[in-house]
Amino acid sequence: MIFDSHAHYDSEQFDIDRDELLSSVLPQKGVVAVINMAADYESLKKTVALCEKYDYIYGAVGIHPECANDLPDNWLSDVEALLSHPKIVAVGEIGLDYHWEDECPREKQKEVLIAQLELAKKHDLPVVIHDREAHGDMMDILRKYKPKGVVHCFSGSAELAQETVKLGMYIGLGGAVTFKNARRPIEVAAWVPEDRLLIETDAPYMTPAPFRGKRNSSALIPYTAEKIAQVRGMTPEQVLRMTRENAERLFGVVCPA
Ligand code: NI
Repeated sequence: MIFDSHAHYDSEQFDIDRDELLSSVLPQKGVVAVINMAADYESLKKTVALCEKYDYIYGAVGIHPECANDLPDNWLSDVEALLSHPKIVAVGEIGLDYHWEDECPREKQKEVLIAQLELAKKHDLPVVIHDREAHGDMMDILRKYKPKGVVHCFSGSAELAQETVKLGMYIGLGGAVTFKNARRPIEVAAWVPEDRLLIETDAPYMTPAPFRGKRNSSALIPYTAEKIAQVRGMTPEQVLRMTRENAERLFGVVCPA
């Protein structure tokens, strides 16, 4: 039973076969829950539509740092209005991305992130954090605002993971643990406490080996689980159960038994 804590099934890369994938392929592969992440303003409504169409899909709504420029004036109240939807379980994905700072300057990224952290706190919801090449500023902000939630596709060191866990947050790991030069994600995978690890795809991105370069989907999570199991001395089934229980706890989602 697979709980994919982070995917983007509204992506146009799924336009050709989305319904087939979500209504039959993934359930047949044992996928019992997916959290679909909004990213740009248009994806807010698309995420809600996916939640309403498929029982096992839940949603996070928020604005990704790469998409934080040129938002309509009412963007924050539009996000807030969706938080009362019964299948919207988090604010995400939100964060800082200094790799793409040309898309949106750092100060603007911080402003949009902080507004959404405050929104999540107000509604007592977890956040899904994206942190790319911004570890220092992100840790400062997490220390200050103390959200509950997950840092997804965790790319920092084991030390940074320890600090993140100490703040009460979860660590999300995906296909990167299977990459040939994965040193940090492997150290993190070996270290994370049993009750703080989530597994994810970030589909259509971050496809695990041996399928790198192809489109990712939740059906490929077993490859990631196998690698995590190997470095932790567990079975893949144990990794899938542990990460499912953690995701259920964090997002308040109960999967069918
Ligand atoms: Ni993502």
